Amino acid sequence: MIETIIDGVDFGPLAVLPGTWKGEKGMDIAPEEDGSKEENPFSEEILFEIVGDVTNAGKQTLGVVRYHQKVYRKTDGAQFHDQLGYWVWDPAAGTVMFTLTIPRAVSLVAGGDFDMGSMDDDAVSIAVASEDGGDWGVAQSPFMRENAKTTGFQINLEVDGDKMVYSQTTFLDIYGRKFDHTDNSTLVRVSP
Ligand code: HEM
Repeated sequence: MIETIIDGVDFGPLAVLPGTWKGEKGMDIAPEEDGSKEENPFSEEILFEIVGDVTNAGKQTLGVVRYHQKVYRKTDGAQFHDQLGYWVWDPAAGTVMFTLTIPRAVSLVAGGDFDMGSMDDDAVSIAVASEDGGDWGVAQSPFMRENAKTTGFQINLEVDGDKMVYSQTTFLDIYGRKFDHTDNSTLVRVSP
């Protein structure tokens, strides 16, 4: 059974996240200018830290976890992706929210419903999505909007005890075509 209340704050399904997680089996598929795709196996580290509760407009009380993800290309060990953001739980609405910022000048807010009845012992499955111009939207620099536009994003994250699996798609409009930029990975919690 997962304890969802930590220090008096309700983190809902996000209570499974805190800790340092490492993965060695990631796969990134990214667009190439010549119309082909680039496949990069990766290793990564994600640090999830409890922020606590946040109250909005005197009405909404949220449980917040901050994350920092660092991704390394397997072939040369170089870091080739860096991402910051928050996972946020709104217990009254039953909504999970997710934000990301990447150093290409792209940020987004994603959201999704979560049914607390679906939590099974140590296992949780969370899905959130974002769409440019939608309720859960994308913000990006004028250059990115014109040259490498993020039109949407979705992530499915499953945690079972100390194992995490995620699958995400960043929907791009780049080099005059639509491209599904995907990342899949499996991680283990190496410290709480
Ligand atoms: C594990 C996560 C990710 C990895 C490893 C990754 C890696 C890559 C790689 C290798 C490229 C090809 C261009 C380059 O070499 O720089 C690329 C392009 C791109 N990625 Fe990601 N990415 C990840 C997640 C994301 C996310 C979450 C977003 C935004 C929501 C994003 C947005 C973009 C954009 C806009 C491009 C096109 C830029 C270009 O190729 O000039 N990526 N990514």
